[in-house]
Amino acid sequence: MTNSYKMNDNFLWGGAIAAHQAEGAWDKDGKGVSIADVLTAGAHQKPREITDGVIEGLNYPNHHGIYFYDTYKEDLALMKEMGFNSFRTSIAWTRIFPNGDETVPNEAGLKFYDDLFDEMIKNGIEPVVTLHHFEMPYHLVSEYGGWTNRKLIDFFEHYVRVVFERYKDKVKYWITFNEISNQANQAEPSWVSDFLIWTNSGLKFSKDATVEQRMEAMFQAGHNELVASARAVIIAKEINPEMKVGAMLNVAPMYPATPSPADMLALQKAKQLRDWFSDVHVRGFYPNELEKLFQRTGWHSDTTEQDFIDLKNGTVDYLSISYYASSTIKATEGKKPSLDDPTSISTAENKFIKTSDWGWSIDPDGLRYTLNELNDAYPNLPIMIVENGLGANDELIEENGEITIHDDYRIDYLRSHIKAVEQAVAIDGIPVIGYLSWGPIDIVSAGTGEMKKRYGYIYVDLDDLGQGSNKRYKKDSFDWYKKVIASNGEQL
Ligand code: BG6
Repeated sequence: MTNSYKMNDNFLWGGAIAAHQAEGAWDKDGKGVSIADVLTAGAHQKPREITDGVIEGLNYPNHHGIYFYDTYKEDLALMKEMGFNSFRTSIAWTRIFPNGDETVPNEAGLKFYDDLFDEMIKNGIEPVVTLHHFEMPYHLVSEYGGWTNRKLIDFFEHYVRVVFERYKDKVKYWITFNEISNQANQAEPSWVSDFLIWTNSGLKFSKDATVEQRMEAMFQAGHNELVASARAVIIAKEINPEMKVGAMLNVAPMYPATPSPADMLALQKAKQLRDWFSDVHVRGFYPNELEKLFQRTGWHSDTTEQDFIDLKNGTVDYLSISYYASSTIKATEGKKPSLDDPTSISTAENKFIKTSDWGWSIDPDGLRYTLNELNDAYPNLPIMIVENGLGANDELIEENGEITIHDDYRIDYLRSHIKAVEQAVAIDGIPVIGYLSWGPIDIVSAGTGEMKKRYGYIYVDLDDLGQGSNKRYKKDSFDWYKKVIASNGEQL
């Protein structure tokens, strides 16, 4: 389909993965155990269990991923064939510092990423690298209690300094904390909020933890991560001023369930509960309503004067975002929406929006809407889309002696979302600098641990138990995306 819009010649087109969902080799070459290594396999509506350490006999899908640790050369060759000029992955902190609190890094881990980044550069692919993507060292949880402990700021700073020094001439675009705002909602204790506070901050609450205790811990962990991120920005500028360090937010636009004042107020409070992460990242200080909240509740006890100086000096160079779905907000029956009581804010169904097989809403207009909202809040800050895509169950079929996958549903999803991005750029003037879709090659799902929730242009022949040939096959979307890139977004 020819489209009237086209991106600039320097637009970044590519895809994104995370180390723990792809690399496998979880205990190879000195790697330590990460918080992703203790997540068992789940399924849609079946939570992944967080075990106390690795227990023999259980199924831990991240232990094998798609064996990218050994296959990255052939996988990158396929990305190159599609025309990628950028590829996002993360560094597994546990390959560099197996426990997180060592002083001397693991040379084998550093060497692996040297080779991986060299291979990308050789293929004309710009690396975009996340420092903290759901896989901090497990030891920092079991010994230090996760991100509520301020010592983690120093451990992270040390790790960051080592990798910035090592890769300063190879990697320009860095991302600090993946989807840092995901953990904001601790109002409804559920497996989803338990999962997100684990992946983001390494926190595990006891069953009887109150909402107040959960919120306080979330605010403290979030603060420590924001300070750690700010310090990373400051260090990057010392080491190589050309490096660009970005925040990473999951941006689901929020709609009110009705135009009632109560629902509008709930919507505003829901946004305030989430958007302070990006406010601090971008502006370097907390918004007024949160300052007031902390004064009333004491939810922000462990901070120093230096933290606030660092936050001011370490604002990000760009925003990176993931976009999958939108959400709809309403006031909880019988409650006045307020930040002090997040249980006063609830989510609602939206009859105007369809959902995927995994229950995620499909809302391309929401992407354009959200890009505009971000630009209104943070004018002219470059935005890189580093995740977007459809998780779907693909069927491998044999046709005329060839194995293929007809994934027109994925093409439809991506086409409508890329179109929304192009409209945001061409009509609304939003400075979007790249589009890197999620999981260009099938990987283990973060939320469910399944292989069958696939996002890729490239099919990986592995099942949920990690069994299969591990061969790669091109889906129909492979050639489609290749044309999109070759035409700079004109051929959708
Ligand atoms: C984002 C994460 O939340 O969504 C990724 O940054 C994740 O790690 C992606 O894989 C899609 O989620 P899921 O649960 O379908 O893998």
